[in-house]
Amino acid sequence: MSAVACFNCDFDEAKVRSAVKRLTLVNFRNYKYLRLNLDKPFIILSGENGSGKTNILEAISFLSQGRGLRGAKLSEIKTFDFLASSLPTPTFINNNGWAVSAEIEKLDETFSIGTAVESVVKEVSFNETKEVERRIVQVNNQKLPSQNELGNYLTLIWITPQMDRLFLGGAQHRRSFLDRIVYAFDVEHAKRLTSFDNLYRQWLQILKSGNINNNWLLSIEEQIAGLGVAIAAARLEQTEKLNAFMEKNPDDMFPEAILELDGTIEQMIRERPAVYVEDFYRESLFNQRRSVLYNDTGAGINKTDLKAVYKKKNVPANLCSTGEQKALLLSIMLSEARCLSLNRGVPPILLLDEIAAHLDDFKRDALLFKIKELQTQSFLTTTNLFEFMSIKESAQFFEIKENQVKEI
Ligand SMILES: Nc1ncnc2c1ncn2[C@@H]1O[C@H](COP(=O)(O)OP(=O)(O)O)[C@@H](O)[C@H]1O
Ligand SMILES: [Mg+2]
Repeated sequence: MSAVACFNCDFDEAKVRSAVKRLTLVNFRNYKYLRLNLDKPFIILSGENGSGKTNILEAISFLSQGRGLRGAKLSEIKTFDFLASSLPTPTFINNNGWAVSAEIEKLDETFSIGTAVESVVKEVSFNETKEVERRIVQVNNQKLPSQNELGNYLTLIWITPQMDRLFLGGAQHRRSFLDRIVYAFDVEHAKRLTSFDNLYRQWLQILKSGNINNNWLLSIEEQIAGLGVAIAAARLEQTEKLNAFMEKNPDDMFPEAILELDGTIEQMIRERPAVYVEDFYRESLFNQRRSVLYNDTGAGINKTDLKAVYKKKNVPANLCSTGEQKALLLSIMLSEARCLSLNRGVPPILLLDEIAAHLDDFKRDALLFKIKELQTQSFLTTTNLFEFMSIKESAQFFEIKENQVKEI
């Protein structure tokens, strides 16, 4: 049997090990209220541009920590008031903030995850308060102490059209991409990053106030250095793990990538004991006290970049063709998903926005076949349903039109 014929035939329904069984959106972008009952490995969302496909993926992405797959501000998400009145609204929905909830099935376990925004009054200075919105998260209706805990319940990987430029744009997006990979393997990573960011902000604030001899700075620098080294070590460990996995399990269809970390601290901990690197980091912060506000060139894990190399050609990803870059990204995504599945016993759920757009029919069907082997659920958006005919037996198709989602 040829490879093409094999991709096109539907094989036995694989048992899905991780899935969203029910998804509910309230006041979320163009959906005043949406409920989807899902029971297939592939969930295909089709509709014209601007119909609201990515909005659904974004809603699911809020079931993990962070600002979702668009990196949105919380205030952008609630349904526009001018649109709200024209949308069908069940009587039990009020016009308060937005919310997303889902019933998740993971191996033999079922639980719910919910997220919503709440307004809290925050003290901004001695006699000034301000109302700010913050995202709260719940599992089985119990509030979690922090969003970072969500990684203990659900792992998501997303690929969006914006990521086509991942290897070309600034380092910040690649660093976030890397940190999401590390977080998928090690939930503590996100907590360390949150603490690191808070401390670094405090450190800059004290320096901005002009008090460079503040004793508190020493303690902050020590904590930043300790956390920074732990963050760098986790990044190093997980990229090495992924590289080793990719080398051992080369893909026949998508090019093998080698990931490289370009960061002073990561480089140092390859060669030196952690205590030495911590001392170096602390001293480097101390030496930057006078200059960092004007010329931020010192070492730090907040400067690290992730590089990828197309292994067979030995070409850095940023010099590869657009199609090659997309293929590299997909290859990293597939390896991460497989590696996670082996390491944590559960595959991640995949959110794949317009994934088929740059792939020829053969590559697209190969990708779908590989995703199916992961025994997970994936959400795919498209403007052309026919792209997914090869998996129709394992897919649920939805059409989105005029802010309504209909199963077809
Ligand atoms: N807060 C909001 N309230 C209502 N509609 C919104 C909101 N934010 C974005 N939209 C609408 O969502 C649509 C884009 O949805 P999107 O999911 O990106 O479409 P696509 O189907 O192309 O992926 C746009 O028409 C935009 O106006
Ligand atoms: Mg879209």
